[in-house]
Amino acid sequence: MRISRGDNTPDNAALIGFTNLRRARTTRPMVIERGRGIFLIDENGREYMEGTASFYCAALGFSDEELVEAAVRQMRSLPAYASGVYRTVPAALALGEKLAALAPMKDARVAFASTGSEANDFLIKFMRFRNAYLGQPKRTKVIARTGSYHGGTMATAALGGFPGTAAAFNLPMDDVLTVGQPDFVNRALEGESEAEFTARMLLEVEQTIEQAGPETVGAMILDPVSYSAGCVLPPAGYLTGLQEILARYGVLFFDDEVITGFCRTGNMFAAETFGFTPDCMSLAKALSAAYMPISAIVMSGEFYDVLEQASDVIGTMPHAATYAGHPVAAAVALRMLEIIEERDLVGHVQRVSPRLHRLIHGLSGHELVFNTRALGLGGAVQLHPLKGQPGVRGQAMMQTMMDQGLLLRVVGDTINFSPPLIITEAEIDEMMRRFTAALETLPREAA
Ligand SMILES: Cc1ncc(COP(=O)(O)O)c(C=O)c1O
Repeated sequence: MRISRGDNTPDNAALIGFTNLRRARTTRPMVIERGRGIFLIDENGREYMEGTASFYCAALGFSDEELVEAAVRQMRSLPAYASGVYRTVPAALALGEKLAALAPMKDARVAFASTGSEANDFLIKFMRFRNAYLGQPKRTKVIARTGSYHGGTMATAALGGFPGTAAAFNLPMDDVLTVGQPDFVNRALEGESEAEFTARMLLEVEQTIEQAGPETVGAMILDPVSYSAGCVLPPAGYLTGLQEILARYGVLFFDDEVITGFCRTGNMFAAETFGFTPDCMSLAKALSAAYMPISAIVMSGEFYDVLEQASDVIGTMPHAATYAGHPVAAAVALRMLEIIEERDLVGHVQRVSPRLHRLIHGLSGHELVFNTRALGLGGAVQLHPLKGQPGVRGQAMMQTMMDQGLLLRVVGDTINFSPPLIITEAEIDEMMRRFTAALETLPREAA
């Protein structure tokens, strides 16, 4: 039974994710009412700087008039229409062309969905469709990595890497193979070099495929920089080494760029930053600067050709979704891609990110800091955990950061940075000033 309802009462009918539901009955959530640039104002008039672009998504901050205009224009001309059965809308066609041209794969083709989870889920379904047509119906298993998050649907939450999720929801895990996160900072053995660590991580993937039986493994999915695992940067040679191994076993390489896509790593896609070529890529979040829910699956021409052949046998591609290619979402995403070019956001990230790196790494000698890392317009400060209480210091830091007017995502004792792409150097200075002030107010219990 609800205790109370109405404005300013803690209890409310809406379930808020990643929140203790019992605590939510008595603790009012932070309610954000407005945004301006990279700043937010809550219902009490307090201002916060958003240093992780909400869930790594609000790439243009919270008040971009050009995106708003694009949405309004489309709303006025055609606010709704589903793409399917030989019908679609101009915005979806134009967006498909633009994404295919940007993609780092040959003859790319694009399918739309609404969320990152849905893109990954559909992609796994497409993989099974493809493999069944190719006479390899047993190739259904997907390899994922501990700590990597790929979504909240049945299939994506079962990918098993995100601690606790698959078990908590009692998800079907038969087709999931889990390998370790290539987190050299936290998982290297005593005296192990980065090259040795990379070789060990790659060997684990190879052995996992061998043990499962290569004829049962369809794909490996990974987030090139894993923010969910605490901003894990891939060790040198890991991603290119993986590409070689997967190709050798006929296992598809699914590149989940839901966070890293669109300038985050200093190039349009992380695939360019790390020099690998995936078979398929999933995109969301910054695709529309998160102003509208839209995601995309980008497929190599080779992958798509098999879908085409399979659909021809059946008579149709037995897949569609009401909001896949939604006109307003597609119009906003299309405008976003134009803005990335017009405002040279890749160049902007390359220009301002050295300052972020310098300030993040400048904290490496701090007594509470265990490790710092940075890449493109992102990075992390990993704190020493409190003795026997992993994650407690991270939670304390979340509170002291909020006291300083700074919102950042915390993973265990690691604090992630991924500010809106429009952040200026002066705002980077201010973000790091607030961060340092929050760090200074943390209690100094023994690490
Ligand atoms: C790497 C990655 N993939 C997929 C998803 C799922 O995207 P969505 O929350 O839009 O369903 C997320 C969400 O944070 C993500 O970080």
